[in-house]
Amino acid sequence: MTKLTKASDALDMAWAEIQRLKLEPYIADLDLNGFTVIPPEIANPDGLHGRLLDAVLDVAERRDGVRPDIETGSTHAGYKGTYEEYAGTEGDSPVGEFLNALILEGQPFEDALMNPVLLAMTTYLLGYSVVLSQMGCFIKGKNENTFSFHSDTLIPAPLPPQALICNATYLLTDFTRENGATAFVPGSHKWGRHPGPEEAIVGGENGNPRGVAAEGPAGSMVVWHGGTWHGAFNRLNDGLRVSMTVLMARPNMRTELDLFGEVPQEMLDRHPARFAFLVQQGITYGSNSPEESLARGKRAREVEQAYFKEIGLEAEERIAFHLYG
Ligand SMILES: [Fe+2]
Repeated sequence: MTKLTKASDALDMAWAEIQRLKLEPYIADLDLNGFTVIPPEIANPDGLHGRLLDAVLDVAERRDGVRPDIETGSTHAGYKGTYEEYAGTEGDSPVGEFLNALILEGQPFEDALMNPVLLAMTTYLLGYSVVLSQMGCFIKGKNENTFSFHSDTLIPAPLPPQALICNATYLLTDFTRENGATAFVPGSHKWGRHPGPEEAIVGGENGNPRGVAAEGPAGSMVVWHGGTWHGAFNRLNDGLRVSMTVLMARPNMRTELDLFGEVPQEMLDRHPARFAFLVQQGITYGSNSPEESLARGKRAREVEQAYFKEIGLEAEERIAFHLYG
């Protein structure tokens, strides 16, 4: 692996990794449209997506008491649960079931976070100090409600051109318009704002005419800039649409999960030093007392130093790393 000699070389190191993985066309697509679909042979060359599908079905069965029925979709048709509070939606859920905090559910999920393609794409958008915000899974059966266009960057407009967060989603079943694919408004990451009510409609007669479906076979990875407007078409077919979203953030952003101190040491021990940084063990914010603040700061610096050592960066470059890296 190329090593950094100074933090301002971070973009060169990120680009070398992008070239090694042959991701240049997907970076170009991402810059132009705000999202890209990376095919299975590049995104999951070792069949990780198959192991992830089995693993998420296991988690769903353990949490819900019933295994999702991929073939018929009978377990989730007309599902009303997750996000039923969204936008006064009547009828079925626009997103299906959402399983969260999957990073703590075993090896396949850790492998998903450490996938070099996922790390190269999200590092390009958010720098080497990128951290995991959430790892979740949407399981959606046949439904009527579409999921409105929105940006995941939850700050008031104007949104900055640089991504503050981004999303890398593993498609674990085939995504087509009829299968209820994620919808995007290409180029919307450049507009620096959230959609208005009429612009937010997905599909149908009154739907935003710029909306397109992100289509790809199981094993593809969809990556998008945190400012890109996205939602989802409703699913017209039987069966289930299963996707695993890996939401990533710059380390100064509030993350969906608060993982500091929550990750078992044996999990940290089986990965490179970057893993501990990715799962938020290098974040100093969030303490509730002076004692906790000191202890957390000490632990976070140790994690950061180990990561710096791994990528060849001197400790003195710490501030520049977070600015450029
Ligand atoms: Fe979203």
